[in-house]
This record gives sequence, C-alpha cells and structure tokens, in this order.
Amino acid sequence: MDIRVVAGDVTTFAGDGLVVNLFEGAGGPAKGGRRARAGAVKPLGGATAAVDTALGGAIAKLIQAGEASGKWGEQTLLHTLGRLPVRRVLVMGLGKPDELTVDRIRAVAAEAARALRKVGARRIGTIVHGAGAGGFNPAQATQALVEGTLLGLYRFAKYKTNNDTTKAIERVTIVERDRQRLRAMTEAVRRGRILAEAANAARDLVNEPGNTLTPTELARRARAMARDARVRCEVLGPRELRRLGAGGLLGVARGSREPARLIVLTYRGRRGGPHLGLVGKGVTFDSGGISIKPAENMEAMKGDMAGAAAAIAAACAIARLGLPIRVTAVVPATENLPSGTALKPGDILRAMSGKTIEVINTDAEGRLILADALAYARRRRVTHLVDAATLTGACVVALGTINSGAFTNNQAWLEKVLAAGRETGEKIWPMPMDTEYDELIKSEIAEIKNTGGRKGGAVTAAKFLQHFVGETPWVHLDIAGTSESDKEKGYHPKGATGVMARTFAALAIEMLAKG
Ligand code: BES
Ligand code: MN
Ligand code: ZN
Repeated sequence: MDIRVVAGDVTTFAGDGLVVNLFEGAGGPAKGGRRARAGAVKPLGGATAAVDTALGGAIAKLIQAGEASGKWGEQTLLHTLGRLPVRRVLVMGLGKPDELTVDRIRAVAAEAARALRKVGARRIGTIVHGAGAGGFNPAQATQALVEGTLLGLYRFAKYKTNNDTTKAIERVTIVERDRQRLRAMTEAVRRGRILAEAANAARDLVNEPGNTLTPTELARRARAMARDARVRCEVLGPRELRRLGAGGLLGVARGSREPARLIVLTYRGRRGGPHLGLVGKGVTFDSGGISIKPAENMEAMKGDMAGAAAAIAAACAIARLGLPIRVTAVVPATENLPSGTALKPGDILRAMSGKTIEVINTDAEGRLILADALAYARRRRVTHLVDAATLTGACVVALGTINSGAFTNNQAWLEKVLAAGRETGEKIWPMPMDTEYDELIKSEIAEIKNTGGRKGGAVTAAKFLQHFVGETPWVHLDIAGTSESDKEKGYHPKGATGVMARTFAALAIEMLAKG
C-alpha cells in the first residue's frame, strides 16, 4: 500500500473517500455562560469546517439534528454529490478532546480505513487526527495514524479460496495544511510503516496453522525475514543442540517427528554499548504432550509461538529503523506432542545451564525451552534480556486479555519495558516476584520442578525462568491473554495481535534515550 504525505487543502483531495473528524461537542450548542446567546453553536474547526462549507453545511446540519455528536466510535458517511472532488466524506467521532490519546488515534485510523474499504474505496485521503485542535505532536500523531491504518487493514486471507480481497485500499494520502510539517511527517510515515509491518509479519506467523508452520518452517521464515532486513540468521538443529546440552528444548521435542530448532538473529547497529536480548517462546503447536490438553480450544495452541513471532519481527524492525544498538533474538522452536518417545511426567532433564529439572507436567513445556534460550542469549553476552511467551493460562485468569503480565529481577529495566508499552499502546502490568514463591518449585530430587501447582501459576512460571537469567537485567512478559483477539476491535482484527513486536522495537529506542 502506498502512503504519501502532501501539503494542501483537504477540499482539493480527489479519491474514493476522505476522512475528517469531529470532537464531541464541536458544532453543537455552546455551553452556558452569560455571553452565549440562545442557539449559539461552537464552530467546527479546521478540515472538518472546510469540508462542511464545501458541502453546504451538511455536517453542521447533522449535528444540529442530533444525528452526529462526535462521540467516540461514531462514524458518519456522506456522499459529496459533486460538491467536492472526493466521492465520500467519512466523519469520525473523536470523543472528548481530553480523552484523546495516541492509541485512540491508531484506533480511529483503523476503523476509518476499514469502513472505507468496506464500501469499496481504493484511494483514500485523511487528515492527521489529533494534530490540529487535539494538540498532539504532528509526527507522533502521523506515526500513530499510519500504524493504525496498516494494523487495522490487516487480514489473513491466504486460505480463503474465494477470498474477498478484491476490496483493498491501494493508496492513503495524508493531507496536511502546514508545509513546514511535511518533512517530519514523512519520516513518521516511515517509522509507523516499519513498526506496523513488523506486527503484521508477526500476526502472519501466529495465524499460520501448525501443519504448515513447523519449527523448520518457522526457521525458514525467520531466515527470509532476516535476509530482507539485513539481519544475520543462524539456525541450530538437534546435533548442535545436543552439543550445547540444550536438554530443555530437546526434551520437549522428543515427542515429535519434527526436529527442534534454535533460531538466532543478530543485528549489529553499533559495536559497543547495550546489547538487547530478545527471547520468544516458539512452540508451533502445544497439545500438552503426555499431560495432554482437553480437545476444546486446542486449535488455539497453533499460536503458542506468538512470543517467537514478536522477537523475530522486532529484531528485523530494529534493523530496518537502523537503530545504533546490538540485538540478539533467540527463539527455541519445537512442537509439544505425545508419542512413544515423548517426555513423561517424572522425567528429569538437564538444561543448558547445567541445572536439573524434574518434569511434573509436560504441558508446562514453555519454561523448559525458554530455560535453554535464556541461557543461550546470556552466552551471546546480551546486557539486557526480555522475553515474550504465551506461558500460562493463570496469567489469562489474572489479567484477562487486556494486559500482558510483566515479571522482573530488575526494577529499572522493568520501567523501560513499561515505558515502551505506553509508547505503543500495548498494556503491560507488573506482577510480584517475592522469594516466597520459590518454595513452590523446589524439587525433592532435582534442583527445580516445572510446575508449582495451581496457585500463583503465572508467578511460579516466571520464578522458574528466573533460575536461568543470573544477574542479567530481565523482564518476562506473559502474553497468553494478549496474543490473540477474539473480536475485531480498533486496530486489532480478530485473530493474532502481533503483540510485543512493536513494543520490543520501542524498547530498543527507549534504551538509546538518555536517562
Ligand atoms: N501454552 C500454554 C499456555 C496458554 C494457555 C497459552 C492459554 C495461551 C492460552 C502453556 O504451555 C501451558 O500449557 N501452560 C500450563 C501450565 C501448567 C501445566 C502449569 C497452563 O497454563 O495450564
Ligand atoms: Mn503447554
Ligand atoms: Zn505452551
């Protein structure tokens, strides 16, 4: 899709649809005050006013008739009937001015683009929501607009034989009055595109079914993505993994015919300085293994590699952004299946770090493979670690589908991750890591066991991982509840969200910022 920024007047835009906006209350009766005469209205502003004038006051009329109010989520579609060069105008409600956020700019851009696509529009124009009366930094608002548009238009249609992709937006023209803003806005388009395309690439991986996206195929796709972004990619197989003593990853992989892979991406944007380690759980299908899951909803477990998708996509995005930082992404990839050779409850594994693990439940496989990936990232001398994993149902119980859970051994590093999440709109909530929880995963016959019972399940999973990060500042993000959306909402279509792809890239930016 072509995205361009042009300087000019929105009323000259020619295309299939033009997006303008309306704050709640604008164009309506002016509030109280002794000076307000009866029937006085708060005037429309900026682009909306210009379009309204060209349409002979059609928008103002709708407001006065109570048919448009500017409330959040409202969409009003008008045909221009030759009064403007564009065929339609879509007025998006922005809600109350003081409730507008950067994330709402993403959402409104997504909803607008989808609404116009639905009516068959191919070339659309838009103003930057929030950059006028909203008072947002024009570059930041432009980036959000682009992210929202690309994220909102995403579809996974490759397996729909008669797919309805004939309706597609081909070009988005961002119309800006102030010529001086053009340069910064054009740069913001580039950043927004890189971040959104990273999340969409992650979504593609997560939506792909388990029969096509095996560990080998995940590695192949990672290699292709890395090549396009000029990132180095190494893929280790069972032989190298045995040499490394990767007992966790190899243990889980024993149940499957598909060989395990350890995918390692490296980007050197700079020689010294901080070295960001991104680790992502890459279980391409999680049946639970011998501790098999119930059949209901088991199909969702094709998405048990959402952390891997985020780590791979983010490493590539950081390289595309050209950030002066080192990044190593480590992805342990395997299936978790039952078979005659599968891992069994009671088995004891020796992880890459040398620690022994008693396997109580083969469905707690994520932590077994992450143990090795975290240890491997440390061997590669990362200075900071962050992992994303669809790790526990307990985290979904605790936080639902709104927040990812965050667990850390270093508060300052957690603050950076939280700041990155605020930047991208991906909500993250800190969870406790008291030493008391360690009791729950002590084993009678090995150093640790892989489950701590039902109580505090998300915390004990994080506590398990902590055994493999040493003193390296580390944040674990449990994305079990946030990696998929069960309905279309804002900039998330139904299905994979691509969560943490953008936040990991924002984290690299955050690390380079002073303080
Ligand atoms: N992949 C699952 C966690 C999961 C659950 C992700 C729901 C997405 C949605 C993980 O491997 C798992 O099975 N965890 C177990 C751990 C338990 C056996 C200690 C769980 O949460 O039940
Ligand atoms: Mn599992
Ligand atoms: Zn799993």
